[in-house]
Parts: sequence; C-alpha cells; structure tokens
Amino acid sequence: MKPVASAIVALAVVGAYAAVVHAQTPADRSIKYRQGVMSAQGWHLGVLASMAKGDRPYDRDTAVRSATFLDQLVAMPWDGYGPNTESGSVNTRAKAEIWKDWAKFEKYGKEVKAETAKLVSAAGTDLNALKGAVGATGKQCNGCHDDFRTK
Ligand code: HEC
Repeated sequence: MKPVASAIVALAVVGAYAAVVHAQTPADRSIKYRQGVMSAQGWHLGVLASMAKGDRPYDRDTAVRSATFLDQLVAMPWDGYGPNTESGSVNTRAKAEIWKDWAKFEKYGKEVKAETAKLVSAAGTDLNALKGAVGATGKQCNGCHDDFRTK
C-alpha cells in the first residue's frame, strides 16, 4: 500500500472506533460493561453447575478453568457502577438501592469473592467438593440479585 493510502485507511479505522465508542453515553457504556461481566459470570457458573447437577461429566481441568475465570470476573463489575450510571438509554436491572446502600452491595461482592476463592480449590479436588462450593457461590449471587436487581 502507498503511504497516503495507508494513512487514509488508518484514519478510517480510528474514525470507526471513535464512532463506536462515542455513539453511547458514558452511562450506557457502564451498564453494558457491568452486564457483560455478569453475563460471563453466568456462563462460567453455568459450566460448574451443570457438572454439579450431573448434566455434564466432571472434568477437573475444565472445572478449574471456569472457577478461575469466575474468581477473576467477580472482581470486575465495580468499575461499571460509577456516578450517574443508575440509568441510561439502554435497559438496566440495577436497582437505585445500590447507590443508597453501597456498603451492603459491596459486602455481597466481598462475600462472593470469598466463595469463588474456595470454589477454585474445590473445583480441582473432586465432584463432591465442587457441588458444595457451587451451591455456596450461587447463594451469594442470588442474595445480591434478590436485594439489588429487578426481576
Ligand atoms: C454485588 C451484587 C451482585 C453479585 C454478588 C452478583 N450479581 Fe449478578 N447482577 C447484579 C446486578 C445489579 C445485575 C443487573 C446489572 C444491570 O442490569 O445493570 C446483575 C445481573 C446479572 C446477570 C444478567 C446480565 C445481563 O446480561 O443483563 C447475570 C447472568 C448475573 N448477574 C449473574 C451473576 C452470577 C452468576 C453471580 C455469582 C457468581 C452474580 N451475578 C453475582 C448484582 C450482583
């Protein structure tokens, strides 16, 4: 490619990126971010729950992989709850209570992190250990959803 042509392509790429990023408001981007992280959590807890229920065979490597991802993912949603992100032009199921009772919301976050840390070692132990740890983790997910997520 000639230098001028490649510079034009480069500008077009930068322009397209800017258009994608700026088409949404900061609140929309935060909402999508936290929903994306949550969706990935659902994915990996789903892998582990299906092993716990016997819907798929227990496989140590797969279980440790999903538990490790989950343990990292539970640390990530917080960036998506900044100021003025209660609502946007995209739908959110986050309740306004989150920003009114941040300490309680954060407590659920710390508790789920404690459970996913145990889940990583349980996933590498055996199916029985996995079952118990999946249940304990799921309880924390549900607790926060009951208090802070609309149905
Ligand atoms: C500290 C509170 C909290 C914890 C803990 C929590 N969630 Fe959530 N979750 C939320 C909130 C709030 C929403 C709604 C986010 C929104 O719509 O803006 C949500 C949404 C979701 C969604 C829907 C995502 C979407 O596509 O809109 C899934 C799936 C989910 N959570 C799975 C999980 C799983 C699995 C766990 C446990 C490993 C978990 N959550 C732990 C608060 C929490």
